Amino acid sequence: MSGYTIKELMRPNIVSLIPYSSARNEFTGTAKVFLDANENWRDFVGNVGRNRYPDPQHRDLKRSISTVMGLPEKSLVLGNGSDEMIDVLFRIFCVPHKDKILLMSPTYGAYQVFADINDIGVSHCPLKTDFSLNLRHMDTVCHLVNNGTPESGMHKMLFICSPNNPSGNSFPLDQIATIAQRFKGITIVDEAYFEFSGKESAITLMRDCPRLVVLRTLSKSWGLANARVGIAVAPPEIVEAMHKVKYPYNLSGIAQELAIEALEHAQEVYRNIEGTIQERERVAQQLQKFPFVKEVFPSDANFLLVRVLDPDGLCSSLRERGIIIRNRSTVRGCFGCVRITIGNRSENDSLLKAMEELEG
Ligand SMILES: Cc1ncc(COP(=O)(O)O)c(C=O)c1O
Repeated sequence: MSGYTIKELMRPNIVSLIPYSSARNEFTGTAKVFLDANENWRDFVGNVGRNRYPDPQHRDLKRSISTVMGLPEKSLVLGNGSDEMIDVLFRIFCVPHKDKILLMSPTYGAYQVFADINDIGVSHCPLKTDFSLNLRHMDTVCHLVNNGTPESGMHKMLFICSPNNPSGNSFPLDQIATIAQRFKGITIVDEAYFEFSGKESAITLMRDCPRLVVLRTLSKSWGLANARVGIAVAPPEIVEAMHKVKYPYNLSGIAQELAIEALEHAQEVYRNIEGTIQERERVAQQLQKFPFVKEVFPSDANFLLVRVLDPDGLCSSLRERGIIIRNRSTVRGCFGCVRITIGNRSENDSLLKAMEELEG
């Protein structure tokens, strides 16, 4: 199969883009007096630091991420959550009203929303009823979606969320590799829930799959959803383009410092992940005992997808008891399903107790 280079897949205006050059990009050393960025000389209480713009290249945080998470430092791009990384990839590769993306449905709803915002068409390759990849169908789909050209418009990106939200399952790496090698565009593997899976990362495929991008986040297993720190691991041309397109100061200094602090507490985070996994298995087992629960799908994430007799009734009855779960029953392929995040032991017990009351 003749492929396109990464640059050929990019929007031509991004390839030729001269990025904004911020003061903190132009001077990175130490100095006595900084009068180059139109900052105020003090913040509201006279603290030093908060009045200054943060590092636009996130150098210290990248070093910590690389050391603690074992990710290659030069391949990293950091953003305001992995959501920003997804949006930036759309703006680099997809020409509005012309290009398309391919989704394995059901999957994380934001891909569709970012496509809609950017006026990009979406093709769906449905997962099987057990949420595994339909490889035979994928073959045909890849053949079909590879038809276009960058000039005429084509399927530029394909998203694989693994572990998948909302189904919770991971996809085997050999299947991801097959797809990434066959698809002519950019394959993005979203590993937001990776740390709960105990599986090997798609990053190991990057050498053999030259158009692969892997996304991670500190919002889930690292417990920093509030700080908004997303991570892309990408080939050099994509790293360069993402740095050109992202907002210059897309990650606040406060978020960067908090993220470094969290990474310094990695052992505690790993213990929490272990605890969440144990709780996930306990809650899954307990849920199976309720007669109104039809199926608890196996999960590699920090949530469970559960098929029940009456999802609307269950969600509203739990809400009346102060417990909020997510109704996913209108999502393609998820009829009758609710998604339950794994909380701490006492939160999970509250859920199970409320469900017992409903049963009675
Ligand atoms: C699969 C998936 N990817 C990405 C995100 C966004 O994460 P972030 O907080 O890093 O923007 C989510 C959030 O729920 C998610 O489920």
